Amino acid sequence: MAIIKTKDLTKRFKDVLAVDDVNLEIEEGECFGLLGPNGAGKTTLIRMITAVSPPTKGKIWVQGKDLKDCHREAKAMMGVIPQLDNLDPDLTVFQNLMTFARYFNIPKNEARRRSVELLALFKLEDKYNSRIRELSGGMRRRLLLARGLINMPMILILDEPTLGLDPQAKYLVWHKLTELNSEGVTRILCTHNMEEATVLCDRVAIMHEGRIVSLDAPHALISRYVGSEVWEIEVNSEGRDRIIQELESRGLDFEDGGSEIYVFHVTDDQSLTDLVSHAERLKHRPATLEDVFFRLTGRSLVE
Ligand SMILES: Nc1ncnc2c1ncn2[C@@H]1O[C@H](COP(=O)(O)OP(=O)(O)O)[C@@H](O)[C@H]1O
Ligand SMILES: [Mg+2]
Repeated sequence: MAIIKTKDLTKRFKDVLAVDDVNLEIEEGECFGLLGPNGAGKTTLIRMITAVSPPTKGKIWVQGKDLKDCHREAKAMMGVIPQLDNLDPDLTVFQNLMTFARYFNIPKNEARRRSVELLALFKLEDKYNSRIRELSGGMRRRLLLARGLINMPMILILDEPTLGLDPQAKYLVWHKLTELNSEGVTRILCTHNMEEATVLCDRVAIMHEGRIVSLDAPHALISRYVGSEVWEIEVNSEGRDRIIQELESRGLDFEDGGSEIYVFHVTDDQSLTDLVSHAERLKHRPATLEDVFFRLTGRSLVE
C-alpha cells in the first residue's frame, strides 16, 4: 500500500496554479525524489502533504487515511527538514533537540538518549553545549537533520538537505539517508542536485509548472529520454545549418541548444564524427539525470 497517495491535488494562489492535478503514490520505505526548476510547485506540494497548507482541490491519504481526518497523527509520523534554517539561536545545540522533542511529547529521558545518539551520528558530539551562532553552515544543516529524526519519523521529508555542504558532510548525509533504507523509513527528497537524486532515489518525479511531467527510476528516465550517451556538437555559425540538416536526414533525436547541439539515443553504429569539420568540436559522454531534466523542463531560466 502507498504510504502517501494524492488524487487531483491542486493548489491555486489567486491567478497562480502552483500545483495542478497531481496524482502520486509514494511507496512505504522508498526514497522518492522531487525535482523541478524554481517555481515548479515542489514546496507547495510538500506543504500540502505535511498538512501545513490545505489543498484548493483534491485529496491526500497518509497510510490509507484521509489527511483531513488525521492531521495530528500524520504530523507525528513525519520528520520535516526545511530548506531554511529555523533553529532557535537562543538555545544550545542540545536544547534545540530537547525543545523539539517536547513538541512530540517524547519523555525527557528518552529525548536525552536520542539527542546524544543523533549528535554522535551527525558528528556533532563536540558541539553539545554550543550556541547555534557558533556553528558553521554545514553543522547547522546536520543539526537540522538530527532534529528531523528526533521523533523517529516513518516519513522523512527533506528540502535540499545537502545545499551548501562540503563534500565530506554531503557524503555523511548521503550515507545516513541510505542507511534509513534498512529501517524502512520513507524519504521524500526535494533537490536540485541531480547526482544526489540519482544516487539516493528509488524513483524521481520531475515537476514543471505545477504538474508531474514524468516519474520513474532515475536510470529508467535516462534511458527513455536520453539513451546511454549524449553527443555534444559545438557548432559555428557556418556549419550549423548543415549539421542540423544532416541530423534530421539521419532521423536522429537532437536538441538545438544554440552554440551546442545535443544528440540523444545514438547507437553504437551511428558515429557522428564524419559530421564535424575541423572548426567544430564533438564529444560524447555518459547521459545523466540532468540531461533528462533539461529535456523535460527546458534550458532557459524560468524566472
Ligand atoms: N504563499 C504563496 N502565495 C502566492 N503564490 C505562491 C505562494 N507560495 C508559492 N507561490 C507560487 O506558487 C508557485 C510554486 O511555488 P513553489 O511551490 O515554492 O515552487 P518550488 O518549490 O518548486 O520552487 C510559484 O509560482 C510561486 O510564486
Ligand atoms: Mg521550493
